[in-house]
Formats: sequence, C-alpha cells, structure tokens
Amino acid sequence: MEKLGLNEIRESFLKFFESKGHLRLESFPLVPKNDSSLLLVNAGMQPLKPYFTGIQTPPNTRITNCQKCIRTGDIENVGKTSRHGTFFEMLGNFSFGDYFKNEVIPWAYEYVTEVLNIPKESLYITVYLEDDEAFNVWSKKTDIDPSRIFRLGKEDNFWEIGQGPCGPSSELHYDRFVELGQIKTKEEFIKAGNEDRVIEFWNLVFTQFDKDAEGNYNKLKNPNIDTGMGLERIAAIMQRTDSIFEIDTINNILQEVSRVSGVKCGESITEDISLKIITDHVRSTTFMISDGVLPSNEGRGYVLRRLIRRAARHGRLLGIKNVFLSELCNTVIKNSFKAYPELKEKESYIKKVIKIEEERFLETLDSGMDILKVYIEELESNDDKILSGEKAFKLYDTYGFPYELTEEILQDAGIKIDLEKFNMEMQSQRQRARDARGQSNYMGSGDNVLNLIPKEIETKFDGYDKTLLQSKALILINGEELVKELSKGEKGIIVTGVTPFYAEMGGQIGDTGTIFNSNFMAEVLDCKMNASGKVVHFVEIIEGTLLVDELVTLKVDEDRRSAICKNHTATHMLQEALITVLGEHVHQSGSYVKEDKLRFDFTHFSALTDEEITKVQRDVNDNIMKACRVDTNVMTIDKAKETGAIALFDAKYQNDVRVVSVGEYSKELCGGTHVKNSGEIGLFKILSEAGVAAGVRRIEAITGSEYIKYVEDKNDLLKGISNALKCSEKDIINKLQMQLDELKDKEKEIMLLKGKLASSSVDEMLDNIKEVKGVKVICGTVRDMDVDALRNLADKLRDKLGDGVVVLGSNINEKVQFVAMASKSATDKGIHCGKIIKEVAKIAGGGGGGRPDMAEAGGKLPEKLDKAIDNVCSIIERLVK
Ligand code: ALA
Repeated sequence: MEKLGLNEIRESFLKFFESKGHLRLESFPLVPKNDSSLLLVNAGMQPLKPYFTGIQTPPNTRITNCQKCIRTGDIENVGKTSRHGTFFEMLGNFSFGDYFKNEVIPWAYEYVTEVLNIPKESLYITVYLEDDEAFNVWSKKTDIDPSRIFRLGKEDNFWEIGQGPCGPSSELHYDRFVELGQIKTKEEFIKAGNEDRVIEFWNLVFTQFDKDAEGNYNKLKNPNIDTGMGLERIAAIMQRTDSIFEIDTINNILQEVSRVSGVKCGESITEDISLKIITDHVRSTTFMISDGVLPSNEGRGYVLRRLIRRAARHGRLLGIKNVFLSELCNTVIKNSFKAYPELKEKESYIKKVIKIEEERFLETLDSGMDILKVYIEELESNDDKILSGEKAFKLYDTYGFPYELTEEILQDAGIKIDLEKFNMEMQSQRQRARDARGQSNYMGSGDNVLNLIPKEIETKFDGYDKTLLQSKALILINGEELVKELSKGEKGIIVTGVTPFYAEMGGQIGDTGTIFNSNFMAEVLDCKMNASGKVVHFVEIIEGTLLVDELVTLKVDEDRRSAICKNHTATHMLQEALITVLGEHVHQSGSYVKEDKLRFDFTHFSALTDEEITKVQRDVNDNIMKACRVDTNVMTIDKAKETGAIALFDAKYQNDVRVVSVGEYSKELCGGTHVKNSGEIGLFKILSEAGVAAGVRRIEAITGSEYIKYVEDKNDLLKGISNALKCSEKDIINKLQMQLDELKDKEKEIMLLKGKLASSSVDEMLDNIKEVKGVKVICGTVRDMDVDALRNLADKLRDKLGDGVVVLGSNINEKVQFVAMASKSATDKGIHCGKIIKEVAKIAGGGGGGRPDMAEAGGKLPEKLDKAIDNVCSIIERLVK
C-alpha cells in the first residue's frame, strides 16, 4: 500500500465516486445554514439534511464531498491522545433514494482494496446484529472472508440522532498489527479496538428508517445512504503513523510551531501536548475565520475565541513571548488552499483577526492570571477547594478569560468552580442580552408550522417590477394547522402561487401590504420564506372570510417598498464607498435593510474617524447625484466574479446569480429589490458608527424621506433655539457665545459678592465678641462655605481675636459644617474644641470631635444651624474651670 498524502487521498476518493455517477460538491461552510440548533457543522451529512428529510430536492441523487467539520466536545483530549483533533475533514458518498447496500458495500470494498490497496488481511468489517442483508452483501458481493465480519449491537452499528432518518450501519476497520495473527472472536475484536490495535475508519449508514416522536422506526419508501470516512484517520493509516499529528499536512504545522517556539517535539510530555494543542487549534481557527466566524462571547464566536486563547496560552507555556499564531496560518493555508480556495482569498483577513484576538488576549492574560493567582492563594490559605461562581464569572465576563481556561488552571491546584452559581450568572447575563434584543415570534407559532406546506407547492416571487397581482390562495394555516378558511379576527398564513411580496432575505425586511378579494380583506404583517424556500404571508383577516383556492389580489405597500429599495441600493453604495475609503479588507458581515433605516456591519479594525465618515458619506452622495442607472442581470457565478461583482464573504451560490449594478460605481450579487436610478435615493446620511464585535463595525444610516424628516427636525430645533435666544439663526453662535461670556462675568461677580458678604459677617462677628467666664468667644454662622473655607475663616478670626475660642457653622448643599478653634490660654482654662463641636453638631443631626484646640464636624439638619450655634456660649460656660 502506497504512502499517500492527505490531499491525494481526498482527490482519489472524490474521483472514485465521480466515476460511480456521483456529483462532487464543494465542502459547505462550517457555519450551518438554516439550523439554529447547531453551532458548527460536525458531520458530512449535516448540511445535506434537507435532502435526507425531503424538505429539498438534491441536485443529483448521488453526491460525494469532503466536508470541513469541527467538534470541540473532546477538546480536553487534544494533544493527549493520538487521534483527537477539533478540526477534521469527512469524506462521504450519499444516495438519496438511489442506490443502497448492494452498491455501496462493494464500492467501499473496491475503493479500499483496489484504489488505496489496503491489504485484505488488515481489514475487519462490523454490521448491525440483525442486518442479515448487509452481512450477505459483504459475504456474497465481495471476496472478504466472512470470518472477518462481526455483528455488533445498536450502540456500535446503528446510527441515529434524535428523531428523523436513521438506520443500521456497517463499519470498516483497519488492523495495525496483522503480525499478531487473525482476530477470531467478537470479544477479541472489541478488545483490540479498545487497545488501539484496530481502528474504525469508514462508517456506512443505511438510512432506511424514519424514527417518529413515539420512538417507532417507520420504514422509508426510498432508503438513503450516508457514509463518513475521517480523512485524517485514513491518512494516518496510509502513512503508517501512530498519530494524526505525524501525517503530512498536520506535521508541517507542528514543525512550524516547534521552530517558532524553539521547543523540540519528543523531549517532554507536557511540551508535546502544548505543541499539539497549538497545531490543532491553529488549523480549526484558520478554517473557522475563513468561513466568517469572528471571536465573541457567544455561540460559535465563543468557540473560536476559546480556541485562539487556548492556543495563545500554550504558546506562553512554551516560552513564546510575542504574538505568533497568525504566522502559523501560512502553513495551514499552504497545505489546504487547493481544496479550499477561500483560505487563500481571505489570507490577510484571517491573519488579522487571529492577531488582534491574540494581542487582546495577551493584554488580559497577565492581569487575569494575577487575579486568578490571588484567588488561588486566598482559597489555599482558607483550605478551601471551591472557587465561587461569581468570581469565575467575573474572570470570564470582565477579563475575557474563557471559563475552561480558568478551570484548567485551577485543576492544577486541585480547585473546582461552583458551576451552579457560574451558570446562574451566565443565565442572567443571557437574559439581559435577550431582553435587550427583544423577542419576535409570529403568533406564537414556531417554525414547524411553516414546514406544513407541502413540498410540491410552488411559490413564485414576481415582485421586482410589480407591487400588485392576482393569484390563487393555495394554502391557509391558522397558526397551528392547515385549514380550509380564515375569518375576520384570525391571524394566520396565506400561501399563493405567485406573489409580489418580497420575503425577508439577504438582510432585506419582508414586504407588508394587503391581500383581498370581494369576500375578505387581510393585512399582511410580514412575509418570510420557510426552510424549503416557500414564500409565506403572515396575515390578520380584517374583514370577511377567505376560502382556500380562491383567487385573491396581492398588493404591496408601495411607499414602504420604495423606502426599502432606496435603503437597499444605498447599502450597496455604502459598501463600495467603505472599500474605497478604508481598503479592500472591508467585507460585509451583516446587514439589515428596513423602511426607516439601514444597518451595515463590516470588517474593519478601528473606529472610523470623523474625516473618514465624511468621506464615505460624500462618496455615496456624489454617486446618488450622478443619477446612475441601476441594472440587474442574471449570469453564472464565474462570470459574475470575473466582472468584479462583490459576493458575500461566507455564502455559497447557485450557478446562476443575480448581479445588481449601480452605474459603474457598484456591482454586487444580490436577490433584493432596488431603485431604478440612484437619484431616487435622494440623499444619504450616516447616523452612527460603532463597534459590534472584535474587528466588526456597524454603520446606521438613512435616505430619502427619512433624510428629509431628519433635516426638518434639525430645522425645528434650530428655530426653537433661535426663538429662545431671540435672534436670527445665523446669529445663534454669536449670541450663545455672548450669553456664555455674560454668565462667566456674572459668576465672577457672585464670587466677589460672596466674599464681601463673608467679610461683612466677619466684621459683624468681630463686633460681637462675647466673654464667658473670662474667655473671649466668637461664634456665628455663614452661608455656602465648605470645610476648607470655613477653617480659613476661623483661622483668620482667631488671629484677630488673640486669646479665646472661635466656633463657626456653615450652611452648604443642604448640610451643615462646623469648625471650632481655641488658643492655648483658652484650652488651659478648660476649653475643649472636640467637646464643644460634639454637642453642637449633635443638635444639627450630626457628630464629630477633635482635639482641645481644633475640631470639625458635619450635620444633616441645616434648619438647626442657628440653634446649634446659639448653644455655644452655654457649653463653654460649663467647660471653663
Ligand atoms: N453520518 C455518519 C457519521 O458521521 C456517516 O459517522
């Protein structure tokens, strides 16, 4: 058996199945489409599910592909075992109601023994216990020795996930040590599997049942075939290596990590683990970013963040001081760009995203580590083995420390996290985010209702040039089930054969309007597409009753549609302007076009300056004023790319695509509705620019009549200001400046007057010196003096007084402040400022104290200030000896 490279094996597999009538499909992106239950594609059949369940018709009944997959369930084992990786490729061949066991088994055998030339004495086969058919095909249609076929139970040879298509499977296994002799019994075979002597490398699933909610296995009319072969595994077999980290394309990366870190492989177990973790994670992150995932604290973005940060941390453990991960992408890309051209196309972008995330992490790593160290020391000194959920959450939320990283570091110190509390904190954070986003749910009905629409029903969109047409109401749904009629007051769904209503798609909101005939009138609240591409109108019946199969008139709200068109065309122009002003790295990462505004998310790494915003805005407006013609043309995807049309970053396109061009200015693949001429947009205004995730910025903008409204509002505001200032609009600034200057002068004057007032009260107080048992006393109140001013004043008075006591109170900010000072001779006579102030402050609802010669206090009751000061003399009288 020849030592084949990973790339060669992939090609030979796909070619083999092409020769058996299969259509070769490119790998689907790692981000699943139309499946919110799954973060990342984790099996070859996953993106093909709509073909298995019959929701969609496959382009061919025989398909073969090599699918990128991510599985992070076993992330802890990466680097510690020889076969675990978070990224892998799955080779597969699929039949949708076409061939079955009679074909797939001999083909699998042919490929393995005649193309890969794996010796027959290295092969073992397993089949499902009750699957005589599979056993018979193997023993009659191939020359494998039946003693090499073992029948295993449901846990090994039956493939199912929850409800839906499932069935028995048959697996191909490779014996790494034939020299140990043939495995004779099932028990020996299972033991050899546990000991890593035999490894499973290809799973043939015979999807012949549909499992229903009650757990019944109903036989499918057209059984399917789903197979999966781990490319890295078969490469390890073909290259006779013990571990996936030794196969050609992965070892390349490992060698790079070793070079960059200066750490050799094979010298230390823990260092080897770090080398392998980095190798694996760099592979998965490079692929994830190329498919449009960006680091964040939610969902797949978090998976990516965790992988990058984990790799960065292991870099530190190997002694790497600076950012290093993005450099390693070169090798990943070099290995795989022929099969996955998107890697090369997005090379600089991928590197930038990894670099920024790594830089951010290194900044937080040190501070987070310091905090974690303190936590650990605290716990150890208290002999505690549990870190509180709040603290773990704080590390995650505030310091960006992935939970698992905290867990991993704590593990070394034998400490666990209070997971329950952590999850509670997490949940309340999610709730906050949900509350912030708001909920939208149609009539409380889930997506399931939308799948009630039979597959055969055709719903054609004919609304690019029309907003009014007639069609038949083919399907009515009342929110729960298919019905024959919908009546006044009911909310439900109408499906028609043709419609001018645009169903929400590609970031453009669905149309609203009315559907009616002489018997009824319905308001269309929204229009969407279900998973199999049928257009559904969400309606409320306002008048009368609609019967199924009646002819109806569909009328789109034209003003709203026209406002949406303006915003959609402006979004295209905005993208072009951003590329012109900021650079080629700008890609759309999301957009939402509504009637009142547009939102555009794009990749860029810093906030836009005011100058950049002005430039972008001007560029769009210049091209609006040029009144460019907007054209739409349908062409092949290759032709579209040739003409330089912008395609979505992470989308897969059919062969024929619709290209929307705005004069010579912008050209973009798009299925949305647009104006006929850019002049219709009127004007374009950016309202805000902000960051939404690492490396993603968001612009919100308005056009058309919203812009007019905006200008009118601003005008009203100006008018209001000029009325209030009693001047013309052009004088507003001068007038305002004058008023501000005046205000400043007045403030100065007030200060001056306050000073005068204070000194006059000083004079008054000096005129009012009292004598208590031979001690001279000045006491009185002032206004608006804080403690420092009051202390200064008391100081001055004491100097003027010579021997004696000064007690002052001030009324400031709804509170009171007291200061007392005494000369030496007074304290000798028994005066104690601390005691005086204590009693005085108490009257004004406060407390305080101090030394015999100086004391300060505050109080909360300004209305008691005078009363408090009135008491000073009697207190002194008591104190003097
Ligand atoms: N769907 C099967 C698997 O993932 C082939 O193993």
